[in-house]
Parts: sequence; C-alpha cells; structure tokens
Amino acid sequence: MTYTIALQFEDGVTRLINCNAGEKLSDAAYRQKVNIPLDCRDGACGTCRGYCESGKYDMPESSYIEDALTPEEAQAGHVLACQMKPVSDCVVMIPASSASCKASVGKFASHVEEVKLLSDSTIEFTLNVSGGAVEFLPGQYAKVGIPGTSLSRAYSFSSKSGAQQVSFVVRNVPDGKMSTFLTDAARPGVAVDFEAPFGSFYLRPISRPTLFLAGGTGIAPFLSMLRTLSPETLTHPLNMVYGVTRDEDLVGLEELEEARQRLPLFNYEFCLIESANSNLKRGYVTEHIQSDWLNNGDYDAYLCGPVAMVDAVRKWQESSGQNAKNFYFEKFSASTEV
Ligand SMILES: Cc1cc2nc3c(=O)[nH]c(=O)nc-3n(C[C@H](O)[C@H](O)[C@H](O)COP(=O)(O)OP(=O)(O)OC[C@H]3O[C@@H](n4cnc5c(N)ncnc54)[C@H](O)[C@@H]3O)c2cc1C
Ligand code: FES
Repeated sequence: MTYTIALQFEDGVTRLINCNAGEKLSDAAYRQKVNIPLDCRDGACGTCRGYCESGKYDMPESSYIEDALTPEEAQAGHVLACQMKPVSDCVVMIPASSASCKASVGKFASHVEEVKLLSDSTIEFTLNVSGGAVEFLPGQYAKVGIPGTSLSRAYSFSSKSGAQQVSFVVRNVPDGKMSTFLTDAARPGVAVDFEAPFGSFYLRPISRPTLFLAGGTGIAPFLSMLRTLSPETLTHPLNMVYGVTRDEDLVGLEELEEARQRLPLFNYEFCLIESANSNLKRGYVTEHIQSDWLNNGDYDAYLCGPVAMVDAVRKWQESSGQNAKNFYFEKFSASTEV
C-alpha cells in the first residue's frame, strides 16, 4: 500500500511524494530526494516539526519527547516527520522553503492537444505532457509559459490530477499576451512549457457541509475538485453558486450537470449580473446563497474568481456574520508583470 503525501512548503510550492505503509514520512521524503529539515531522527529535537492539515497517521506518544512536541501540539495536528507514519493520503505543511529542501517545483514540457473557444470570452485548452502524468492537489495552479517569450501566466488546472493531459479554462483577455497566443497561434503540436503545482487553494477532505462560490473562469479549480470527488468521499452536502457577468461567460454547465448526476450530495445554482435571457437567475453569488446551506456557521467555504468578486464576497461574509469554519480563497489577479 502506498499513500500520496503533499508536502506544502512555506513559499507556496507543493511537492507530492509517495509513502509506503509503515514508512516514516522523513524516510519517504529522503528516498525521493526531498531534504526536509532533520536532525536527531529520534523524536528528540523537534527540527522536523510540521503540521498535518489533512489525512491520518500513526505517531505514538512514546516515539517522541515533550521537548520535541507537546501533547497539546500533537493534539492540534503538529507532527514530527521523523516519527509520523501516514495511514492515508496526507497534506503536510513543512515550515521551510522548497529551495532549502531541494524540492524544486516540477517543470514540464508539453504540446498543445486542443484549444476550444467556449465563447467569445472564454477559452479551454488542453496540453499533452511529455513523459507522464502531472500530480497536483485539486484546486492548484500551474505557471504556463507563453511560447516565444520568457513570460508565464498562472492558470488553475480544471482537469483531474494524475493524467498526462491537463486542461485549463481561461478568460480571453482583450490584447492579453497569453490570450492572443491561444486564439492566434496555439495549434495542436505547438510546444508549451509549464511549472506546477502551486498554491494553497485546494480541496481538503470534506468533513462538514461545504459551499463553493465561483466567479467567471474561477470555475476552473472547482471543475478539478468536482472531477476528483466521488459519492464515497462526498459525505456532506456540497452546494455551489457560480456567477458570471454575461451569458457568453457561462461555461462548464455540462460538467456541473454531470457532477450533479454522479454526486448525490452536490447541487449548484448559477446567476448572471446581466442577461439577455429573463428566465435565468440574476444578481451576485451572495444573493443566491441559501441560509440552510450554512449549517448555523458549521460549514467550510471555497471561493475563487476575479479580485473584485472575491473581495466583495469576503466583505459580505464579514458584514453578514456568516463566517465559515474554514474559508479558502483564490484571487485571479493579473500577472505581476502587467
Ligand atoms: C493563482 C492564479 C490562478 C489563476 N487562474 C486562472 C484561471 O484558471 N483562469 C483564468 O482565466 N485566469 C486565471 N488567473 C488570472 C490569469 O493569470 C491572468 O488573467 C492572466 O495574466 C491573463 O493573461 P493574458 O496574457 O491573456 O493577459 P495579460 O497580457 O496578462 O493582460 C492584458 C491586460 O489585461 C489585464 N488583465 C489581465 N488579467 C487580468 C485579470 N485577471 N483581471 C483584471 N485585469 C486583467 C492586464 O492588466 C492587462 O492590462 C489566475 C491568476 C492567479 C494569480
Ligand atoms: S529530527 Fe529530531 S525530532 Fe525529528
């Protein structure tokens, strides 16, 4: 039995490693040439402390001393990598940079498989990766190089991890450099490089009712999350509101409908700020959140979209007192270079 462990470094880089049943996390990391901080290897110094954000593991109290980790810290999810033995897939935060652990981010060569103009405002593109599958946590993003330049753009994966083909759903930004490449030059076979995975916006195990809020192409990471969920892993209600500005921005409804058929606890609504069709729901996403979805405050929320939308939803959350137990968000800001 092998588990997938996502090591999250403090600079936002994630590295996925595998860990055999009964293997200590530090042994698995070093076996895969990831040098996480380590000293005594005996549960005595605390150098290898991390935080297990999700997943299950064995780490008997008798395997370390209180100077390395107190019972309260252990109770709160802090771990010692030299003593922890995962018994499921886990996400573990490592309080060190990826560079110091020699866990540099993955660099991938690929070629364009397909580019689809979903509408005037939205493009979906798929890359076929040379040399095998790409692993990431559902919700994470890649930095995709613009061919012929030294520039890259951040795009969330919309496809499922572990495949040789990766897909993205992106806004066709007028005169945008990547947008222009995608509409004018991205023919099947054209080489595109990317780096991945990045980001801390990823799906945690669903342990209470959960709300997804997507704005525009902010639907991309949610498609990846929904493609990953199964009726076995979705054990609490999951409600989603997907908001766009105009009719032409509305994409991905087939995938959402497929997810609704496949996942009995998943439901979604969509709304438009402006619409030529008077039968469709109007307004902002916050206007379509139903109070019973919030489970008296015992819910988790995931939010992704344009900067203004994310800021507006966060303000709504603060002013309405509808704070989630855990709130994760990603802003689709313009690249720093522009
Ligand atoms: C973590 C992260 C994940 C992202 N994931 C996605 C995704 O999955 N799908 C997606 O569509 N976008 C995503 N974005 C946003 C995307 O990276 C930018 O929109 C991208 O720079 C657009 O590239 P471009 O080369 O076409 O336009 P650029 O050449 O970068 O920009 C051209 C012009 O448009 C403006 N502009 C560009 N992007 C934006 C923006 N997002 N908001 C406002 N003005 C903008 C610029 O200021 C500039 O004037 C993400 C951003 C981040 C930070
Ligand atoms: S390396 Fe010393 S406690 Fe783990």
